[in-house]
Amino acid sequence: MWTRDGIRQLVWDRLGDHLLLVVSNREPYVHSRVSGAIQCDMPPSGLTTALDPIMRACGGTWIAHGSGNADRETVDESDRVQVPPDDPSYTLRRVWLTKEEEDGYYYGFSNDALWPLCHIAYTRPTFKEAEWNTYRAVNERFAQVVLEEVGDSKAFVFVQDYHLTLLPRLLREANPNLIIAQFWHIPWPNPEAFRVCPWQEDILKGLLGNHLLGFHLRYHCNNFLDTLDRTIEARVDRDRYEATHGGEKTAIRPFPISVDFEDVSRRARGAEVEAEMARLTKSLELKDRFVGMGLDRIDYTKGIPDRLRAVERFLERYPDYRNRVVFIQTGVPSRVHVPAYRRINDEIDSLIDKINWKYESDRWKPIIDLRGPLSPLTVMALRRLADFAVVSSLHDGMNLVAKEFVASAFDEDKVLLLSQFTGAARELSDAVMVNPYATDHFAAAMKEALEMPLAERQRRMRRMRAVVEENNVYKWAADIVTEMVKLEFGG
Ligand code: F6P
Repeated sequence: MWTRDGIRQLVWDRLGDHLLLVVSNREPYVHSRVSGAIQCDMPPSGLTTALDPIMRACGGTWIAHGSGNADRETVDESDRVQVPPDDPSYTLRRVWLTKEEEDGYYYGFSNDALWPLCHIAYTRPTFKEAEWNTYRAVNERFAQVVLEEVGDSKAFVFVQDYHLTLLPRLLREANPNLIIAQFWHIPWPNPEAFRVCPWQEDILKGLLGNHLLGFHLRYHCNNFLDTLDRTIEARVDRDRYEATHGGEKTAIRPFPISVDFEDVSRRARGAEVEAEMARLTKSLELKDRFVGMGLDRIDYTKGIPDRLRAVERFLERYPDYRNRVVFIQTGVPSRVHVPAYRRINDEIDSLIDKINWKYESDRWKPIIDLRGPLSPLTVMALRRLADFAVVSSLHDGMNLVAKEFVASAFDEDKVLLLSQFTGAARELSDAVMVNPYATDHFAAAMKEALEMPLAERQRRMRRMRAVVEENNVYKWAADIVTEMVKLEFGG
């Protein structure tokens, strides 16, 4: 079983005198001013949830966009701050962007073009040349900062996600001694979907600057190799999962990402969680009711309207459950300057309003809307209160919400309803699988979850917990480091 100490030892032994640098758009700690005081929060992001425990264990430097309104006040003269604030274990180096840069690179090309391009959720990507130019310029800025941090040292640079597709090539050209890997946290679509991107060649060449490129699933690796094959002059070796371009090799591998099972499981047992559960049971009137829960970043790929429609159908088809089940929808607003994200929020508002109006009684509302920031304690208490959780993504690279729910369910008495279109569905095959597009079947799955005998609930949850415990986030990182070392040093 991989542990925090195990990954630390592995990194020290194998990377020796190399610096460890993680580079991502999203920073793991955001400082903001709230009512005059500075507060530090972790953002709602699978990427930061997964990588923070690894950086805490191994140390090193994490380079990311400083997005908080008090971020500048909390760094030193080199734009660095030690994090986490209560237990400084690694360095966060912040990169500053102007509003225009953030608009073009983050809201624009990353999230209005690449995100819908890679997720098959029927939202059309928008390609604007000006946004692409800003995206390129911001990738160049990140490259400068990485090179500055590396100086004359040897370094292992671990790049994250679709915001930084051009960075690996820029780094490899500027400093051939770097070891560069990238993890792609979202799906890679099939070549037919990807080919509509006007800058597909630049993106692929940028990514082939990596020595190692990781995806969640072998299926995404295959899609990537197919895309390369049809788009650029690269030699694709499907047996070895390698691509060679301009004499340089990139290994393509699956590494399913995960969570810190031990830590989540330990936090779920905390006495303060029990107290918070009691508070919520009272304030939300949950006593003697079944509780279903959805916990998402508000995103059109997460299938939130589809899930609400399934709740509506459930109440319509199984009227005995009226007054006896509540569905709590939590969620943090995200990327609100992108029109599709504003629309999804409005759609959720109107669906919740419609369903509650249709079914509510004097003492019961079927859907409790808790959208907005919630403390980690409240989120944990809600997981513990839920009889079933619903993850209904239309398309999702992995989905760590599902794995965190499983890791929290130490009493084993909970059911996970999981979309078959998430990467997590491959590992969590004991979940009740749902197709979010099939509303009747989805509603029947909710009934199945509520009526599943205790022994069956426990059997399924026990097996899923064993999977997440073994394939934890330290194993994910260890597999990447081990592969990297094998490729670079033949070790
Ligand atoms: O899924 C891709 C991803 O980067 C995740 O890793 C993360 O959970 C989410 O998007 C967060 O998005 P953002 O950084 O735009 O808030």
